[in-house]
Amino acid sequence: MSFHSEVIGSGSYLPDRLVTNDDLAKIVDTTDEWIVERTGIRQRHLAADGELTSDLALQAARRALEAAGTPVQEIDAIVLATTTPDETFPATATKLQAALGMTRGIAFDVQAVCSGFIYALAMADNMIRLGQVRTALVVGAETFSRLLDWTDRTTCVLFGDGAGAFVLRAAEGGPDTIRRQGRGLISTHLYADGRQHDILYANGGVSSTRTTGTVQMAGKEVFKFAVANMAAVGGQALAEAGLTESDIDWLVPHQANKRIIDATAKKLRLPEEKVVLTVAKHANTSAASIPLAFDAAVRDGRIKAGHLVLLESMGAGMTWGASLLRW
Ligand code: ACO
Repeated sequence: MSFHSEVIGSGSYLPDRLVTNDDLAKIVDTTDEWIVERTGIRQRHLAADGELTSDLALQAARRALEAAGTPVQEIDAIVLATTTPDETFPATATKLQAALGMTRGIAFDVQAVCSGFIYALAMADNMIRLGQVRTALVVGAETFSRLLDWTDRTTCVLFGDGAGAFVLRAAEGGPDTIRRQGRGLISTHLYADGRQHDILYANGGVSSTRTTGTVQMAGKEVFKFAVANMAAVGGQALAEAGLTESDIDWLVPHQANKRIIDATAKKLRLPEEKVVLTVAKHANTSAASIPLAFDAAVRDGRIKAGHLVLLESMGAGMTWGASLLRW
């Protein structure tokens, strides 16, 4: 028996506190104009004191389960992508498991920074394809604001907090069934190149400093690496499925920077009207950005049943990936 995954619901959550570029201009030497021109970001949501990654994940997960009509008792696995776990251990996924009232199944975190959601999606999809899991909750949740140096204008203006989630369910059949039924997760594609460590990292950790450190970034290098590799992996996903850019209804890219997204879409020959953009409102929420953007476009009616959607990410490591699905 062969299986594939269907994404049967999505949900997302943004913390209440809204911080505009003008608000940031009061604490670092920057302007709304500079931030909008270089990144497209106008505002970001930040978690309140005491509001943790698992709290954001819980809200997003509940909304996704509600949208999918899936009771908590049916979840076999939680795969949670985060770079900002509540604690060094155990996995934030296990906190979410308890908070949801889930008393069985497995729960673990995935760490691939801004590519975390695509990595988590691939892990859950692979377990479903193997028949190990029937229903999975895939979450991207971050309180990235806690990793920032709020005196460094080159990084603190770029990020925000939030969470998003998908519910995946096993369905019988392989690629032919997805084609016939017009629904299902077609593929996932993952990459990493650890030689790029130094262009984006946090300068701390349990083993090195017993602290979290703060974000360190060589912006121009990250920009160039992101555009070249995201466009390539998107092209690969299409080619392997025997599809072309004209088949795509929506590109939902990691929301790091509007200029990176524009340049990637151009390389993929996708018009702006087919790109879901939330970076202006959310900033870069790392592993949460793709499910946040996806859920926004589902709820406002842009992504419709049967649409072909390409998800793409780029994160520190560097790590990158893509996933192609029919909603
Ligand atoms: N406000 C005002 N001026 C600033 C700010 C700021 N917030 N930040 C930097 N500057 C200044 C710099 O100090 C520099 O001044 P100088 O010329 O006097 O030295 C000037 O602006 C230009 O700086 P650059 O770094 O050359 O600006 P650039 O055009 O490269 O834009 C940016 C910087 C926006 C970070 C860009 O490189 C970029 O988008 N890189 C991608 C990084 C990214 O998105 N990372 C997210 C995480 S990775 C991921 O998710 C994929």
